[in-house]
Amino acid sequence: MNICLNDKIISALSEAVSSENIKAWVTGGYVRDCLLKREHGARDVDIVVLGDGIESARKSARKLGPGIRVSVFRNFGTAMFRYNDFDIEFVGARKESYSRDSRKPVVEAGTIEDDQKRRDFTINALAISINRETFGEFSDPFGGINDLKNKIIRTPLDPDVTFSDDPLRMMRAVRFAAQLNFTIDPVTLKSIAKNAERINIVSAERIAGEFNRIIMSDHPSKGFVLLEKTGLLKLIFPELDNLKGVEKKEGKAHKDNFLHSVKVLDNISSKTDNLWLRWAALLHDIAKPQTKKYTPETGWSFHGHEYIGSKMIPGIFKRFKLPLNEKMKYVQKLVDLHLRPMVLSQETVTDSAVRRLLFEAGDDIDDLMLLCEADITSKNEVTKKRHLENFKLVRSKLVEIEAKDALRKFQPPVDGNEIIRTFGIKPGKEIGIIKNTIREAILDGIIPNEHGAARELMLRKGRELGLTPADESSQEQI
Ligand code: CTP
Repeated sequence: MNICLNDKIISALSEAVSSENIKAWVTGGYVRDCLLKREHGARDVDIVVLGDGIESARKSARKLGPGIRVSVFRNFGTAMFRYNDFDIEFVGARKESYSRDSRKPVVEAGTIEDDQKRRDFTINALAISINRETFGEFSDPFGGINDLKNKIIRTPLDPDVTFSDDPLRMMRAVRFAAQLNFTIDPVTLKSIAKNAERINIVSAERIAGEFNRIIMSDHPSKGFVLLEKTGLLKLIFPELDNLKGVEKKEGKAHKDNFLHSVKVLDNISSKTDNLWLRWAALLHDIAKPQTKKYTPETGWSFHGHEYIGSKMIPGIFKRFKLPLNEKMKYVQKLVDLHLRPMVLSQETVTDSAVRRLLFEAGDDIDDLMLLCEADITSKNEVTKKRHLENFKLVRSKLVEIEAKDALRKFQPPVDGNEIIRTFGIKPGKEIGIIKNTIREAILDGIIPNEHGAARELMLRKGRELGLTPADESSQEQI
């Protein structure tokens, strides 16, 4: 028996559909991932049936047990329920096409092969029968098994037709290539380049979904190079596309910032599955084109690209309909600070510079250090080693200072209320001045990050500003 049908879930479904005389196949990502023996394979099972998908789902759910809630998506002719931690989706085999300018499908009932034809790629169009009498029989009219073996992404039909049915599939091709480390068949690849403009009719949410999957894949740079090569990148992410290319003046060239950025993304991906840290890696140099300058004395410079880059992020996130919340602020912060540890490591590492970095990065300091280490893409092993050693020194200084001064979760040791109470004043600019003085003194190492020392400084600074502590002034009145 096919190893992919060993799962208990498939036997249960097989019993259910067979006893209801429903002709059914398992297909899509479940079959693909199972044949590839992918760890963390699909947790959703796509079932194609002959006839009515919604009715079949209802009947099968009833057979599987009481109380299973079936969600129906009548527009798409599909129905879904949850069983043993799997999402089971039923669809009736269809002949279907989308009208050119909308996602609204025109649907008629069809055979299993009709259904396979209208799927995106041969590796996703494999179907295995789950009926008792034919259990385990493959339906593979488009050579999906061969393509799985040869690691090829190919459309079952003429790719122009498959992509015109749903242009997002162009990005899905790239995503599967990056996730599975597969190659896109040359005819399919050519068709993506030809039809790239059609991506414009796809919603930002769907594009972002695929984009995030490419970022989260094992080989993100492979995905980005393909997006660039097919022309999709300049349509969906012109700022990133703009990073590519090398300019040379007086024999001095700068690096290709697109290839550098995706290499940094690859580097960080081997260390973290944090999507937003991966985004920060991708975007860390996004403002280099705007800040590029050449002077004969110093060569190429990109002054302020970290700051301008961090300011570009809200616009990019908004366009992709990504969350405009603390996740975005985290990406902005990392982009803004990404040069700081490097600058630190090149100077004598002073306590006060380390304190300031800790204060600004807060709890994100470890992620920032990961980003900086991933940012070293020099092919020169000596340079690489030197940078890494400098970062090691910065890391140990960070630990030392944090142990002493606890700046990661910096809370002012004297807050505004205490200042108001002490001097009996109303909220006003003096409070900001005093708080600022205390913070700067702590960061410069003039006073420790402690309440007693901070209070003393508050009293001193207050007097300098002409304020008198409330208890002293009442004593004077007595
Ligand atoms: N499909 C398609 N065209 C799309 C999306 C999906 O033909 N634009 C088909 C494919 O056969 C795919 C199946 O529907 O295998 C299920 O789609 P989905 O759950 O989006 O993808 P999976 O292949 O299951 O992969 P993943 O779960 O990694 O997204």
